[in-house]
Amino acid sequence: MSDVQKNEEGAASAAPSSSDTIIEVKDLWKVYGRDPKRILTDKYRKLHKDDIQEKTGNIVAMREVNLKIKKGEFYIIMGLSGSGKSTLVRNLIRLVNPTAGKITVKGRDVTKMKEDELLDFRKTTYGMVFQHYGLMPHMTILDNAAYGLKVRGLPKGEQLAKAMKALETVGLKGWEDYYPGNLSGGMQQRVGLARALANDPDILLMDEPFSGLDPLIRRQMQDEFVDLQDKLKKTIVFVTHDLHEALKLGDKIAIMRNGEVVQIGTPEEIVTQPANDYVREFVQDASPAKVVTAGTIMREPEVLLYAWEGPKTALTILQREKRRGAFVVDKGHKLLGLANVDRLEKYLKGRIDVDESKISSSVVRPIPSVTEETIIEELFSMVSANPYPIPVTSEDNKLLGVVKTDDIFETISPDGGEDDV
Ligand SMILES: Nc1ncnc2c1ncn2[C@@H]1O[C@H](COP(=O)(O)OP(=O)(O)O)[C@@H](O)[C@H]1O
Ligand SMILES: [Mg+2]
Repeated sequence: MSDVQKNEEGAASAAPSSSDTIIEVKDLWKVYGRDPKRILTDKYRKLHKDDIQEKTGNIVAMREVNLKIKKGEFYIIMGLSGSGKSTLVRNLIRLVNPTAGKITVKGRDVTKMKEDELLDFRKTTYGMVFQHYGLMPHMTILDNAAYGLKVRGLPKGEQLAKAMKALETVGLKGWEDYYPGNLSGGMQQRVGLARALANDPDILLMDEPFSGLDPLIRRQMQDEFVDLQDKLKKTIVFVTHDLHEALKLGDKIAIMRNGEVVQIGTPEEIVTQPANDYVREFVQDASPAKVVTAGTIMREPEVLLYAWEGPKTALTILQREKRRGAFVVDKGHKLLGLANVDRLEKYLKGRIDVDESKISSSVVRPIPSVTEETIIEELFSMVSANPYPIPVTSEDNKLLGVVKTDDIFETISPDGGEDDV
């Protein structure tokens, strides 16, 4: 717990205004069974879930959960079956009422809302997608997609226009007059997604939406969904028990165990710094190559040449540092490419007296660079293709650092590279 609190507070202090937080959950508990509030008294609250169940018959589905979800964030809730993921998501929309704690969504205290207010808030704020598509078999695809809008009482014309647009968004244009039974599982789940999107909600709650699909379809849906989210930029709370799905989709991952959140972090943090054995076990077969980024392992280049130093200086520096080559940057620290001893020597041959004030571009060889976000896996092919470190540049081509081959292999070796046998 202390890890989580530290993380959350750290995030809060880094960004003094919490105006970009769209969902905040504080000390949330859900206890099932008789007289649940007594479980929060000192007599029981610190006991293990199993002991509480044995002593009282009550089930602690969620214990002291704290989260902050930012607007536009793809937030994953991950954990084994029974760890409390669905309970948490249902609490956010108050399909289940918490035993204690506070939920603030868009600045409003959801826990205090009266029935009417709640119904309205749900309809206008959330879209929900579940594992079981929940489509009406006797209704057309278009009517299914329009269902939420119908419930909201929108005029028929507007319902259908919005539903059509949502179907288009999920790639189902042309299917509006068919029935769910005519569609494959993947397509039915697209209808479920269209229904959730038709209303243009701020927040999508998705509880294991792809878990019922075959692996290949599932992967395809994940890929499509990544593309879709690039355009939609919704706030998404997404439940999964599948680590690979979590790593692929998530900006942030909260890991639950026995109703508690045991770690919150980016995919990279979760994989490289698991908070305890439970998380470690979860992530043990996750490849760091798929989550660690060039920005994380890059370092300062040991030798850097500045274009205005001139070719003779450059050669001198390389010889003194016993280097075959080094990257060259201009005055704006923009990467021009690589200059090596061979080319510099050839260029300077017979021009003993040249005193140029710039390293000629004919000496500088352009070299492919990556961004801070490039994952290690994508660097493999580049490593084998060139003997130099890989330059990491900003969008405007400023040199930020370099990734060395050794660092890449150290990152991906299962023991963190400490064992060099
Ligand atoms: N209506 C309920 N009554 C009693 N216990 C429940 C109820 N719903 C869920 N639980 C229990 O709460 C715990 C968390 O369940 P759930 O949130 O469904 O987990 P997950 O979605 O991670 O599989 C489990 O131990 C489950 O058995
Ligand atoms: Mg569940």
